Parts: sequence; C-alpha cells; structure tokens
Amino acid sequence: MGIEVTGVSKSFGAQKVLDNLSLSIPDGKITAIVGPSGVGKSVLLKLILGIYEVDSGSISIFGEDMTIASSEEEKTSIRKNCGVLFQSAALLDSLTIYDNIAFPVREHLSLKEDQVYQKVWSIIEDLSLKKVANLMPQQVSLSVRKRVGMARAMILDPKVLLVDEPNTGLDPQHGQEVYDLIKSCQARCGFTGVVISHEIPEVFQVSDRVAMIFQGRIFAEGTPEEIIAHQDPYIKQFLKGSIHGPIRIH
Ligand SMILES: Nc1ncnc2c1ncn2[C@@H]1O[C@H](COP(=O)(O)OP(=O)(O)OP(=O)(O)O)[C@@H](O)[C@H]1O
Ligand SMILES: [Mg+2]
Repeated sequence: MGIEVTGVSKSFGAQKVLDNLSLSIPDGKITAIVGPSGVGKSVLLKLILGIYEVDSGSISIFGEDMTIASSEEEKTSIRKNCGVLFQSAALLDSLTIYDNIAFPVREHLSLKEDQVYQKVWSIIEDLSLKKVANLMPQQVSLSVRKRVGMARAMILDPKVLLVDEPNTGLDPQHGQEVYDLIKSCQARCGFTGVVISHEIPEVFQVSDRVAMIFQGRIFAEGTPEEIIAHQDPYIKQFLKGSIHGPIRIH
C-alpha cells in the first residue's frame, strides 16, 4: 500500500509546479525521487506531509488520506507514521543535540525519563554522536546536524522515512555515511523510504525504485538499472549532470 499520490496538482500563483502527478511508493522499499532543481521535489514532500495543501488530487499514506484531513490533529495523527529529514536539517536551536533527538519521543510516547534516555542514547551511539550530545546545534557542523536530523527522524521506528537531500553541503565521506545509514536502518526496520536527491549514482545504490520528476509529472519511473539504461535525451542529460541538452538550466 505504501504512499499513493493520485493526480496531484499544485500551483503557487501563476506558476504550476505539479501538474496531475501520480506516483505509487511501494511499502517496505526505498524510492528515490530525482529531477532537476526547482521541479517540485520538496513541494511533493510537503504535500505528502500535509504542510502544503494540494489544489487537486489525493495523497494517502498507508490508506489514510492526508488531503481530506481537515484538522491539525488528524494531520498529526497521520504524520505519526512518518520520520522526516527536511532539506535544511532544521533542528530546534534552543535545545541540545540530546534534547533534539529526545523531542519526538517526549512528544509522542509517554515514557519515563530513564526510558527516554535509553532510547535516545542507543541511537546516539549508533550514529557516533556521543561527543556532541550536550552541544547546541549551532556549535556543530552541518554534517553532524544532518546526522542528528536522521536520528530524530528514525527514533520512533517510523513506518515511513522521508529524507530531502540528505547530503547537501556534506563532503563525500560524510555523504556516504548518510546513505549507509539509510540502507542499514531500512534493512533493520523495513520502513518505506523516500529519498529526494540530486546525487546520482549514490542515491541509486540505496534505492529499489527511482521516480524522476520533470515538467510537473513523473517523467520516468523504474529500477535504477532501467533509469540508467533509458535513451530519452532529457533523462540522459539529467543523469550526466550536463549543461548540454534539452533541459534548460536556469
Ligand atoms: N511556499 C512557496 N511559495 C511560492 N513558491 C514556492 C513555495 N515553495 C516552493 N515554491 C516554488 O516551487 C518550485 C519547486 O520548488 P521545490 O523546492 O519543490 O524544488 P526542488 O525540486 O525541491 O528543487 P531543489 O532540487 O533545488 O531542492 C520552485 O519554483 C519554488 O520557487
Ligand atoms: Mg528541494
């Protein structure tokens, strides 16, 4: 069942970003969402989470329709299944790294503080964050903040993990770490993963399916191998990261 996006359109003023886009994101697999900058990848993520409203169409997450959820409570209840890492790895600046990771646990589970500690500390160890646990987000590098964001996204063992550009601003070594982490956690917890990324081929290595957004719709969809073998000139240009070809670079 996973996530079903059906005929979704979204405009901002006169700019039509998504135009009748449909996509099935299968359960228990990792789906990469790729496409040139500005095509609406982050907008799609925010529509899935009910942060933006669709103009038309529907989006269901494990059978629950986010687009008809009318109250913030209903949306929060659907979102409870979802761990999210936003593009900016937004952390709460007034809380330590430890408290940032503990935040969703305290918000959604009624655990005693020693149980919270055990849960948070176990993921802190997994992600090599021990040394920074008591620091504030502004005191650590972006790569550490991304790992903290991943810890926070995964701490409730979500059914769905949505990750937007996990590596923007990271060096290649730390970048690979984030993908390894997504893959190993997926193998352990079996979540349905959605990874938005520009990084080809890195993102293909952790993905079971790839969907390329272009011109407001899913322009190509398949296994990473199928996408790589595609002969369409738009897809070939995008994969090569070339400025030469039919895609206009702004
Ligand atoms: N809140 C908003 N108000 C107005 N326009 C918006 C808003 N959010 C996104 N857009 C516009 O929608 C388009 C798609 O944006 P989006 O952030 O989804 O692109 P993207 O595919 O994620 O790009 P990138 O790869 O650079 O992250 C852009 O033209 C952007 O300016
Ligand atoms: Mg984006």
